[in-house]
Amino acid sequence: MAIELTPLPLPASADPSKFADFGREVKGVDPANFTPEQFKEIEEALYKHGALLFRDAHVSPAQQYALTKAFDPKSESYGHGNNKTGETKKSILHPDLKTIPSVPQVQLIGNGMVYNHEGLAEARLKHPSHTTFHKTVVSPEDAAKGVTRFYRWHIDAALYDLNPPKVTTLYGLTVPAGEKQVCRYDDGTGDELEVPLGTTAFVSGHTMFEILPKEMKSLAVRTKVKYAPHPYVWMAPAHAMSTGLGIESEGLELPLEELPEWSEDKLKIFPILWKNPVTGGLHFQVHPCGAKELVVEALPEGASRGGALYPDGAHITDIKEVRGLLYQMQRPGIAPKLVYPHDWRENDFVLFHNRGVLHTVVGAFTPDQVRAFHQCNLAASDEPVGPSVEDIKTYT
Ligand SMILES: [Fe+2]
Repeated sequence: MAIELTPLPLPASADPSKFADFGREVKGVDPANFTPEQFKEIEEALYKHGALLFRDAHVSPAQQYALTKAFDPKSESYGHGNNKTGETKKSILHPDLKTIPSVPQVQLIGNGMVYNHEGLAEARLKHPSHTTFHKTVVSPEDAAKGVTRFYRWHIDAALYDLNPPKVTTLYGLTVPAGEKQVCRYDDGTGDELEVPLGTTAFVSGHTMFEILPKEMKSLAVRTKVKYAPHPYVWMAPAHAMSTGLGIESEGLELPLEELPEWSEDKLKIFPILWKNPVTGGLHFQVHPCGAKELVVEALPEGASRGGALYPDGAHITDIKEVRGLLYQMQRPGIAPKLVYPHDWRENDFVLFHNRGVLHTVVGAFTPDQVRAFHQCNLAASDEPVGPSVEDIKTYT
C-alpha cells in the first residue's frame, strides 16, 4: 500500500491559506515498522509538511527511537544529552523528564502518577505550567474557568555543545479527556485561542519568516543568534513573557560565573533562518528564551540601504535589544490564526520537523488528570544550514 497523505483537521481559528502545506495525516505506513522505501516517503513528507500524524499507532520505545534515528543515522544521544548528570540539576527542564530505562533516548513526559511503565515502577509526572515560569499568571478565578497560556515557544535543543535534533517524535499513550481551554496572550492585543486540553501547539517557522515585512526579512537573513552557556540553567531564575515567546529582561538570569563549567568553544551560534533540506525554504528557527546576543552581517554589496536595519552590520549584546528585535520578528508568527493546536487522541504518534517549526506545551491539568507521552529526539550529527549567498541577495 502506498503512503497516503491527508491535510490535518484545522480549528476554526486557523487561516486555511496559511496551512496549505502544513501538517498531514499519514496512512498506509506503520511508524513502528517500515521499509527503507517507505522511510524515504515519510522523510520527504515530513520536510514538506512540517508535522505528520499517525493515528492508532502502536510503537514501542525501541521502535520510536529507530524511526527518530532514521532521520539522522549518525545521531545517538538524547537531544539534551544525559539529563541525569549533576551539573544540569539546576536546569529548568530537569523536573519534566523521566528516562525510559531500556531506551534512554526516549523520555516519559506528562502529568500525574504513572505506575509499572516500561520498567519504571512509579513516576510522578508534572505538566509544565506557565504559573511557574511566566512573570505574570492567569488569576485563579480565570484559571478555574479554563483560561490558560502558552508555556514556552521553543525548538527542542540543548543550544549548548549539542546540535539541534532534526525531528522530534511524540507518542500519546494516555490522554485525559477534558473541557477545551482558552489560551490568552495577555500582551495587550486581546489575542486568544480556543485550545483542546493539554494541546501541543505548533507554528511554522517558514510562515513566521514569510509574513515579515521586507526590512525584517533583510535583518533575519543576515543575522546569527549566539545562545547563552547552559541556557536552561541560565534562564531558570528568570521569568517569561505572557506569550511564552521569550524572557522578560529583569536581570534575573543566573550570572555566567555561577553557571556549571562552560567553555567558549561549546557555545552555539546559529543563523536565524534554517534552510529546509527538501523545499529549500527558509524557516525562522530561534529559541528566544536562550538567545543572548545577535551578530548582524552588513548588507551585501549592491543592496539598497533604504530602510535597512543595521546596514553596516552589528554585534548586539544588550539583552533588551536582542530580545526586543527577536520578539518583533517572532510575535507575528504566533498569531492565533497561524497556530495549529493538536487535539491529542490516545495512540496518536506525531513526528515534527524540529528545524522547521516552533512548538509549545499549553494548558494546565489537575494532579488526578493522568497523561503519559513518549518523546524522542536526538542531538543531530550536523549543524543547521543557514541562508545561501543567493538567499541573502534575494532578501536584502
Ligand atoms: Fe519540546
